[in-house]
This record gives sequence, C-alpha cells and structure tokens, in this order.
Amino acid sequence: MKKIMPIYGTRPEAIKMAPIVKALQEAPDFECIVTVTGQHREMLDQVNELFGIVPDHDLNIIQPRQTLNSVMSKIIAGLDSVLEETQPDAIVVQGDTTTSTAGAIAAFNRGIPVVHAEAGLRSFNIHSPFPEEANRKITSQISSLHLAPTSVSKSNLLRETVNEADIYITGNTVIDALLDVVELEVPFSDPRLASLSEGVASGEKLVLITTHRRENQGNAMRGVGRAIARLARMHPDVQFLLPVHKNPVVREAVLPELEGLENILVTEPMPYGEFTHAIHLANVVLTDSGGVQEEAPGLGKPVLVMRENTERPEAVEAGTVRLIGTDEERIVHDVNELLTDQAAYAKMANAVNPYGDGKAGVRTVSAIAELLGVGERLSEFDDGLKRDH
Ligand code: UD1
Ligand code: UDP
Repeated sequence: MKKIMPIYGTRPEAIKMAPIVKALQEAPDFECIVTVTGQHREMLDQVNELFGIVPDHDLNIIQPRQTLNSVMSKIIAGLDSVLEETQPDAIVVQGDTTTSTAGAIAAFNRGIPVVHAEAGLRSFNIHSPFPEEANRKITSQISSLHLAPTSVSKSNLLRETVNEADIYITGNTVIDALLDVVELEVPFSDPRLASLSEGVASGEKLVLITTHRRENQGNAMRGVGRAIARLARMHPDVQFLLPVHKNPVVREAVLPELEGLENILVTEPMPYGEFTHAIHLANVVLTDSGGVQEEAPGLGKPVLVMRENTERPEAVEAGTVRLIGTDEERIVHDVNELLTDQAAYAKMANAVNPYGDGKAGVRTVSAIAELLGVGERLSEFDDGLKRDH
C-alpha cells in the first residue's frame, strides 16, 4: 500500500483536489492522507464539508492580512514534521497558490516525489498573476509528475524542457467537481437569494461577480466597485450578485462603492454547490478568478475577465471568455453591451469545454500508479493519458 498525501489550503485547491481525494480513496493500492495548511479557513472548510473530506492533518496557519512570506514559511515548517511523521510515497499539490509551492518545496527537500495537478499554465508575465505565475514555474522545476489540463499547458511545459514522459494530459479536475454538483441546483441558503431563481425564471437578468486578485487590490478594485455601482444604476431591473471574498483588503476596496443600491446583492462566500447554481442562473459573469474562467464557459455563460492576461487562453480562443482588464469605463461598456445587445451576447454565449470531461481525478490516480509502479493501469482511463484530447 503506497501512501499518497494531497496537500492543499485554499478554496480553489480544495474544489480541484476533491476529485483526486475521492479517486485515491477508491483506489485499492493507495492510502490517502489528506493534509490541509489552513491558508484559508472558512472558505476551505466550506468545500471539505461539501465533499465529505475530513483532513488527517491541519496546520491551521491562517492569520488576518497574512503576508506571502509568513504563509510560505509557516507551511514549510509545519509540513516538515508531518512529512517526517507520515513518510508519504508521494505528495500531490494543485495549481499555483503559496500552499501549493510551499508543499512542493517541503516534499522536494525531503526527497519525496511531487505530483503537480493543473501543471503548465502560463501567463508569461512573472508579475501577473502575482505571485501565482512564479509559484507554478517553481513547482514545475521540482515536480516528478506533471498533470497538464490541456495540450496548451503540455506545450508550455515542453518548451521549458520538462521531460515529455513525465507529462500526462488529464483534463482539469474542476470539471469533475463541477459536474458532481451543478446538476443538483443546490437551493440557496441565504434567504435574500431565494427569490433569485424566480426572478430569473420570469425573465430578470443576473450578473454574477467575483473579485479577489492580489494585483487588482487597491485602486483597480475600487474602480471595479464603482463600475458595478454605475451598472446597477443604469439597469435597475437587473440583479447584481457579489459573493465577496473573506479578505478584508478586498472588502475595504469594493464594498463602500456599492452601498445603498437595492439591486446589488452582496453575500458571504457561497458554498460551492450554491455558487455553481448561481453561474447556471447568470446571464453574464464578471470575474478575476481562475476557476470561474474554467467553469462558466462549460455552462455557456459569457465571462468578462478583469485581468490584463490569462494563463487560460483556451476559452478566450473559443470566444466565451474575454479579457477586459480593470478599467472602469471598459467594464461598464462591456457588461452593458452584453445586457443590451442580443447579437453581441449570442456571439459569446456558447457552451465550450476545453478543460476536461469529468474524469481528470481518476486519470490523476492512474498516472500516480504508473509513477510508483503499482497496481493495474486503469484501462478505461487510458484514453487521454499522455495524449492530447
Ligand atoms: C489565495 C491565493 C490565490 C487564490 C486565492 C483563492 C496565494 C498567494 N494566493 O489568495 O492564488 O486565487 O487564494 O481565493 O496563495 N481570509 C479569511 N478566511 C478565509 C480566507 C481568507 O479570513 O477563509 C482572509 C484572511 O484575512 C487572509 C486573507 O483573506 O489573510 C488573504 O488570504 P490569502 O490566502 O493570503 O490570499 P487570497 O487573496 O485568498
Ligand atoms: N466559488 C465558490 N463560492 C463563491 C465564489 C467562488 O464556491 O462564492 C468557487 C468557484 O466556483 C471556483 C472557485 O471558487 O471553483 C474559485 O475560487 P477563487 O476565485 O477564490 O480562486 P481562483 O480560482 O482565482 O484561484
């Protein structure tokens, strides 16, 4: 029995790691030991609860207004004793957060193979997203197995001279998670949201908004707040829904701009099932999130991304995602266009799914089995492994 340790700490990692945890728990050759860093707290626990995951180790490192260096140093120190105690045969990290890179470094320094899920995404700008572009490049340097979601991300890794035999195209596990929950149309727990479905059913439009990116905090995010407020005044018959990130820096920037507007609904971070239900109901998604850029296109929702670049070009090329930056005028113009111009809307509202088929979790486990030379290769999941799809 090989011990595999998924390590994660933030909301998006928890969502994207859940299908891997599930597949590991179901695989006969593996013992799955879940370690969370607690880089996030409420937003992490919310996801583990939904997927029924009870961590074996919890470093609980979160601090209000934490700095990158405090997060990274606490995680490396905390993980070192967990790794010494448990001696896993491999660890799995996901994506590009500080938890993910700190986890990779802690394992690498102990000679433990690092498996990197969602490998090979690149914006080609080391300052944006910050610090994520640097994080994922560092992790790629020290990983033994690179699980690329698409052929674009595989090409990025090959260009950086990663050995082709160590790269598998799995799809992105976010699609596994999304398909698991979206069909459920989970009812909203916030009573203020109860009327949302009825409003949408009777023709009301909904704009769903999220923002949190570190490089957007401050002036840019205040501008985002002003743009939302202007749009809400221009369209009193449209609902604007903002489940706001727990980060106080985000709240201080964006919330003061939104006060007193009845058609803007600000909520706490929504449980994942409810949030996917809200994407399903939305007409337009305005976001700077990575994961939301991957989910909404699959549901055919036009996504306006408040960033200058993206490491996820696939849905941009397909036309469902558009990069618009954080300029207040541009945000107002582009959202307004999608609310008022049917032809412009129809052009973007295509369901495309470049990020997977919902089997990335089991492909991940099959790739780990091959790395460690255990068990039967899962023949039904061979399709897609090591090949473009
Ligand atoms: C982190 C990741 C980012 C990811 C984002 C997902 C890094 C450097 N950044 O950014 O890549 O896109 O998560 O949301 O790894 N807080 C709480 N409770 C929570 C979560 C956050 O109170 O459950 C507050 C705390 O005050 C914390 C602050 O938010 O200090 C910032 O959290 P942090 O993880 O440092 O940064 P994020 O912006 O969330
Ligand atoms: N999400 C959620 N509730 C919310 C907002 C987002 O469950 O209120 C989910 C969303 O569906 C996606 C993930 O959180 O899967 C994205 O997280 P975030 O935007 O915080 O991080 P990023 O993807 O940018 O790293």
